[in-house]
Amino acid sequence: MLSTIAQLKTRLQQALVAAFGAEWADTDPILVPTNNPKFGDYQANVAMSLAKPLKMKPRAIAESIVANLAVSDLAEAPEIAGPGFINLRLSTAYLEQQLQAVRTDPRLGVATVDPPTRVIVDYPSPNIAKEMHVGHLRPSIIGDCLSRILEFLGYDVLRLSHVGDWGTPFGMLIAYVREAYPDALNDDSDIDLGSLASFYRNAKKRFDEDEAFQQLARQSVVELQAGDEATLKAWKLVCNLSNRTNQTIFDLMGLCDLTIRGESFYNPYLLDVVKALDDKGLLVEDQGAKCVFLEGFTNMDGNPLPLIVQKSDGGFNYATTDLAAIRYRLDEDKVQRVIYPVGAEQTNHFAQVFQVGRRAGWITDAVAFIHAPFGNVLGEDGKKLKSRSGDALKLEEMLEEAIAYARTDLINRLQAANRDESEEFINEVARVIGISAIKYADLSQNRTSNYIFSYDKMLALQGNTAPYMINAYVRVRGIGRKGDIDFASLSDDQTIRLQEEWEFTLAKHILQLDEVLAEIDQDLLPNRLCQYLFELSQKFNQFYENCPVLKAEEPTRTSRILLCDLTAQTIKLGLSLLGIPVLDRI
Ligand code: ARG
Repeated sequence: MLSTIAQLKTRLQQALVAAFGAEWADTDPILVPTNNPKFGDYQANVAMSLAKPLKMKPRAIAESIVANLAVSDLAEAPEIAGPGFINLRLSTAYLEQQLQAVRTDPRLGVATVDPPTRVIVDYPSPNIAKEMHVGHLRPSIIGDCLSRILEFLGYDVLRLSHVGDWGTPFGMLIAYVREAYPDALNDDSDIDLGSLASFYRNAKKRFDEDEAFQQLARQSVVELQAGDEATLKAWKLVCNLSNRTNQTIFDLMGLCDLTIRGESFYNPYLLDVVKALDDKGLLVEDQGAKCVFLEGFTNMDGNPLPLIVQKSDGGFNYATTDLAAIRYRLDEDKVQRVIYPVGAEQTNHFAQVFQVGRRAGWITDAVAFIHAPFGNVLGEDGKKLKSRSGDALKLEEMLEEAIAYARTDLINRLQAANRDESEEFINEVARVIGISAIKYADLSQNRTSNYIFSYDKMLALQGNTAPYMINAYVRVRGIGRKGDIDFASLSDDQTIRLQEEWEFTLAKHILQLDEVLAEIDQDLLPNRLCQYLFELSQKFNQFYENCPVLKAEEPTRTSRILLCDLTAQTIKLGLSLLGIPVLDRI
């Protein structure tokens, strides 16, 4: 199904051609939703922008366009307002026909992209020599949401977790495996290193207290880089332990399955990156280090900044690995778009590696490499969120805390309402609400802003929150269910009929889902979907306050029950794209 806005655009372009000639075929008709229903649903502003090139008054241009505009199957007769705005109001017949098509489509009328190009979303990419902390909350949530939306839109999505699984931070951990689990190095079995938290704690303790151990740690890094087999074995054990532990956290968060392709994966390709840059004449040796001098980046003295791709000791770094990843993703994965939901503090890093990739001729105009930056999670004091001891908060603890809050909340509500529910129900609802609240609080903010992390706010039953949205679903769904109609047996003439203003407002909003998702495809801002859903439930409330549903006469009754049902379906689909499940009752 082509979106309404896309259809109207095409018609406007056809009118432009008919009015002014074929050279105007690609003109953007500047079609936007109106902000006041008085002016209809959409407004085309192209007449103003053509005044100069056509040397005509905008109003006269608008008149010529309208005289050639064929939209009677979609909209009422177009109107011209002010200096030359063309106002379009969707016709009732068209809206009803759209509602019928959407209602009977599991995708709710959202078309898939054609062709289904491949997109890589690079997330979440923790450094696995440490436990995951608050810094991994946003890439996990945003990456998961964006990849769900893009997958739903039909893209071939590859979720790659570019974990930091190589280099210096592993020295201490490898040294500890050697000391505490000497057998692990020789034998093939996957030795149990216990819990990740205690393993790190013990390793750190040994490192801090013993100089000889520190020496062993440094030595281990050298051996790791040199590919020593026993060292690699110890390294692998640590990676497995970390990845397993992280996976339990991803499961708790309900993230889609990820492919782990860590930094170590690109080791075999690093030397070739340096060589390829050299072949392109981009490589400069500076104090023993191999680097590319960047355009548009200067150091403190105002001189061009080098991006080091091979250090003077022969080692490679984070940027080299990302350059190798860019090449691999293009050559082997045949990717068209790569999205990196990574904190805003890495803006320069990505701008630099993309620049080098471009200058090396790897990144062309046919592909897009996009850093989708996000702001910080702040505490209620407005400062970066930290634990009481001053360390970064552990991700797992944050999630457990949210669930605990949701649980207390739920138990209080159940008591107040004298409701008796099983322990199983309480656990399930607390988990879904706790995790969803964290996700929704994150996604409903503009991605690029910082936001304040507050359990009280995110768990509130009122406002733009997950509990509110899940509750809205339960309520709307309940109304439709009470109507007790057999959806399957409805004949075609029992469709949604729009009569009251509130029905129109709600229906038009429902029909905008595809436009909202198309916008997110472009700007990667999931808060648009949260806003859409929140407004949907508000418009539903207004409809429900003003239009009787179950007490209405037929055929209005069935029509309104169908509208309730479609609203519920839309909320459910929208929430699922945010990574939030719905519940039957909360
Ligand atoms: N491991 C990095 C960090 O924790 C993030 C990696 C992001 N992805 C990438 N391809 N550079 O800072």
